[in-house]
Amino acid sequence: MNVKDLMKSAEENTTPFYYYDMELLDSTLNKLKDAADKYKYNVHYALKANTNGRVLDLISSYGFGADCVSGNEINKAVAHGFCPGQIAFAGVGKTDKEIEVGLGNDIFCFNCESVQEIEVINEIASREKKIADIALRINPNVDANTHKYITTGRTENKFGILVTEIAAVVKLIESCKNINLIGLHFHIGSQVTDLIAYRDLCLRVNEIQNWFDKQSMGLRHINVGGGLGIDYDNPDVNPVADFESFFSIFNTYLKLRNGQELHFELGRSIVGVIGNLISKVLYIKEGASKSFAILDAGMTELIRPALYNSKHKIENVSKHANSSNTFYDVVGPICESSDCFGAEINLPATARGDIIAIRCAGAYGEVMASNYNLREKPLAVYSRNSN
Ligand code: LLP
Repeated sequence: MNVKDLMKSAEENTTPFYYYDMELLDSTLNKLKDAADKYKYNVHYALKANTNGRVLDLISSYGFGADCVSGNEINKAVAHGFCPGQIAFAGVGKTDKEIEVGLGNDIFCFNCESVQEIEVINEIASREKKIADIALRINPNVDANTHKYITTGRTENKFGILVTEIAAVVKLIESCKNINLIGLHFHIGSQVTDLIAYRDLCLRVNEIQNWFDKQSMGLRHINVGGGLGIDYDNPDVNPVADFESFFSIFNTYLKLRNGQELHFELGRSIVGVIGNLISKVLYIKEGASKSFAILDAGMTELIRPALYNSKHKIENVSKHANSSNTFYDVVGPICESSDCFGAEINLPATARGDIIAIRCAGAYGEVMASNYNLREKPLAVYSRNSN
């Protein structure tokens, strides 16, 4: 993060705003591309992490596909340069209208999560005289060792079809004339930092593929979802996720069949570190036993700490390192006790008007902002004027 540029943008723009480091996005995308190309892996960017137009334009310019979870995301992906033939459409609750959007755009694949969904897609596709390519999302019952709200691959989660259901679902698909089964889809969770979980996933996928082999059913692709975590504590030391190690696990443990493609859906690891929420200190308030730094940004701009108790590095970018340090509870202005970015944060002596950067807010930050309390959505500011 270039503090000088950041301070300049804080002088020129009304806080709070999201500040995107487009140079870092470029270098992340370059490293991702090199690492994926090495194994000829296909990467779909998970739009749910960040749908900022400038960010999308840059990602699509590298030729990556998209992973969408709504009809609006499909439309936005196409408008920002993603090729419809590289769009996967996931989600447990696709509406009829959204299915029509997917079919109308001739997307790569619907990732299907229930029997009823497959029946409905078949019905709509037959009405529209289309064949829908689908992948079955299978719940692999693998523990991702991450926050329970973002764990998705256990049988108690709502996601995917159970392994025990596969035979019956495949039988159903055979009777669906407008459905073409082309792949299997998995996703174990998000902010996964213990890569062993992916080895477990690979071993599970191998077992499941054995079943398909026995039925002599060839599948064009395997999609192992996303979830690769970032270093929230040390973004300056590790600004780019370790794509190399991530892909090499799949290369080592996953047994792809002849000609089979491997697909990924990565969100956070592409955009997480590039975004910072920039805010101004409104007031310093001395409580009974602690000091509060009250910011002009709150859970309305970045809900992750309030929702998942997630920790984002907090920095006072107005201050020099040699000023004396104090502990603050760094809070927002919203009337909710959970509106707190961090308790007992060690910062240089902080005053009204100081600029605070909340780091690694590029993924699930701007997209999850709300108008609660009738607040305005934050602006986006970029480290350079054009892509
Ligand atoms: N594929 C599927 C099927 C997913 O459900 C997700 C994320 C992804 C890919 C992308 O995962 P990523 O690479 O970004 O971890 N709002 C939460 C995260 C929710 C993740 C939802 N699914 C947060 O702020 O931590």
